[in-house]
Amino acid sequence: MELETFNISPDEIEKAMTPRTRAIVLAHLLGNPCEMGRIMAIARRHDLLVIEDACEAHGAEYRGRKAGGFGDMSTFSFFFGHHISTIEGGMLLTDDDECAELARTLRAHGWVRDRSDRDAIARGHPQIDPRYLFVNLGYNFRPTEVQGAFGVHQLKRLEGYVEARRENARYWSGQLAGLSPHLTCHSEREGTRHVWFGYPMLVKPSAPFTRAQVMAHLEEMGVETRPVLAGNIEEETVMRLVPYRKVGGLANARFIHRNAFYIGNHQGIGSEEREAVADYIRDFVVSRDGMVAGKASR
Ligand SMILES: Cc1ncc(COP(=O)(O)O)c(C=O)c1O
Repeated sequence: MELETFNISPDEIEKAMTPRTRAIVLAHLLGNPCEMGRIMAIARRHDLLVIEDACEAHGAEYRGRKAGGFGDMSTFSFFFGHHISTIEGGMLLTDDDECAELARTLRAHGWVRDRSDRDAIARGHPQIDPRYLFVNLGYNFRPTEVQGAFGVHQLKRLEGYVEARRENARYWSGQLAGLSPHLTCHSEREGTRHVWFGYPMLVKPSAPFTRAQVMAHLEEMGVETRPVLAGNIEEETVMRLVPYRKVGGLANARFIHRNAFYIGNHQGIGSEEREAVADYIRDFVVSRDGMVAGKASR
């Protein structure tokens, strides 16, 4: 992982590759686009599929092109905290017809009803009622029309939502810059558009407080915090059930897992709330350090 973005590192992708590698799966974490120029070049060079998790990156851009528009497939989540929310739900994009048909089958029990080739498949199974013709394993991931209506309505407002989040992030970055001896904040990399799903921070090991302490303080003040997911997914118990191969020591992922957290960001946060959040963080750090970090004027 890259410490500057918490995203997958193109160098580490190259190191992890074997002749059996088929795909690169990446997440544009917290709305910060991955290094897509280098990643797509690696994919082309080795003939790999690219699957983008753009769940936290609605409207994010890399060199003028939208996150989720590079790979063979990409996913978007519309769960609560996301830029667009249908309460639960999400979207899969692909320009590959075969993937699209497969997705239509998997999302609805494995039956053929939503496939464009359903009649042709049904003709091959005249003994089975085509309404209940199952050709694959499947799930029930069908969104409702009400969710669709929520989503379509918010799509028109997405740009405004993104700008509001970007404005919050600009404010926090300005206000917290003086705390850089102890807290590292993220910034927007050149040529990208960061959409700040949340606002991440990394507590330096030399800081006179721990991540747990600053998170506990913010929670006490009514500001919700989250660790960075997945950080180092290898540390999750579930990984006992997943066969995997590891290349290198995952030092950055471990570091992020232990020391990073984020606060929520949302289009509904107004200037009063974002100022209060910055004050809570600054007051906490100053109280632990004795440093003088005045409020930045803007
Ligand atoms: C990066 C990322 N991937 C995947 C998901 C899962 O999305 P959902 O909860 O809509 O299944 C989320 C949800 O927050 C996410 O942030």
